[in-house]
Amino acid sequence: MMDKAYTAAGSPNIALVKYWGKRKGSTKNLPNNSSLSITLGGMGALLLTVTSVLFSRRFLHDRFYINGRCLDAPKGAETVLGILRRRARTGAKALVVSYNSFAESAGIASSASGSATLAFAASRALGLRMSGKELSMVAREGSGSAARSVFGGIVEWRRGRMHTGSDSYAVQVVPPSYWPDLVDIICIISVAKKKVSSTEGHSRTVMTSALYAARPAYAERNVRLAIKAIRKKNFGLLSEIIMRDSDSMHAVMLDSWPPMRYITDKSWDVAELVQDLNRSRRRCLAAYTFDAGQNVHVITTRRDAMRVKRELMRLGIDKVIESGIGNGPVLLGDDSNLIDDTGTKPRFSKLPERVFAHAADARRML
Ligand code: PMV
Repeated sequence: MMDKAYTAAGSPNIALVKYWGKRKGSTKNLPNNSSLSITLGGMGALLLTVTSVLFSRRFLHDRFYINGRCLDAPKGAETVLGILRRRARTGAKALVVSYNSFAESAGIASSASGSATLAFAASRALGLRMSGKELSMVAREGSGSAARSVFGGIVEWRRGRMHTGSDSYAVQVVPPSYWPDLVDIICIISVAKKKVSSTEGHSRTVMTSALYAARPAYAERNVRLAIKAIRKKNFGLLSEIIMRDSDSMHAVMLDSWPPMRYITDKSWDVAELVQDLNRSRRRCLAAYTFDAGQNVHVITTRRDAMRVKRELMRLGIDKVIESGIGNGPVLLGDDSNLIDDTGTKPRFSKLPERVFAHAADARRML
């Protein structure tokens, strides 16, 4: 498997019940509560990370090219490569070339799809045959929420109890085909980088928020209730859980010291619009949720997506990305490699075209 590039495509996810707060003293991204998410993609949404990985004994160190730029190892990526190398009992270094089709300009976090896709592609490049559960644990160590992007559909990350992390991994709750009507309308409020990274945020909340003590049990209950609602396709019940869980996470963020406020006034206007819409229709037709950023995800169904978009436009939200439910990472064909034939240089010649060509290829396969 050495000296041969392997390329995979994977997608980000949006948490319906949030992971916020790691267990004290853990270096393995072990959460205090289980969480639940939708893997994004489908419906023609260009929400993909495409990553090529090549291991070689000729390389002196790992090299990363991300969205066309040579960067220092991104947070978590070295951890993922290190774990896989130990498993494969090799010291070979890697060349990693990765593109996000949604790029930073969409304001959607790429750490989950980045880490999950890297774990998948690199495990193949090292000839490791790993189960989804094992891959989820590797991706988790790169970035917590990446544990869930290893699967498609609706995914639960079970918190586990062991300090080794061997019982903290994701499982698929339902495949994408179970509830294909679900839609995520992502409202891009701003593409500015968040002021406090999620790594800092997780620990600040655990260390300083008095309200946080109540959060893990509440989130755990929300996961159980949300799974019941999903199995019954009860959108009304699900949407209430989604909104309340997001509010609960942002409440403990604000209760941290110094406080963290990711939601801006404009993003909160969207939350109010959703509440008003649900009240005026006397049923829940949409739910808002925010990760650690100001962009709003409005979860709805195909039946109501047009109406919701119209209301958003009226509010002045003109940049939206519509996504359905996507699959987990897939391996792409040899001709998709982002690394040239000699295996030593990434292909830089036609950047944007290549990104979109690969994203389009990958999309056809999803
Ligand atoms: O995976 P991290 O460390 O970037 O944490 C992400 C946490 C949230 O996105 C805010 C919630 C979640 O469950 O994805």
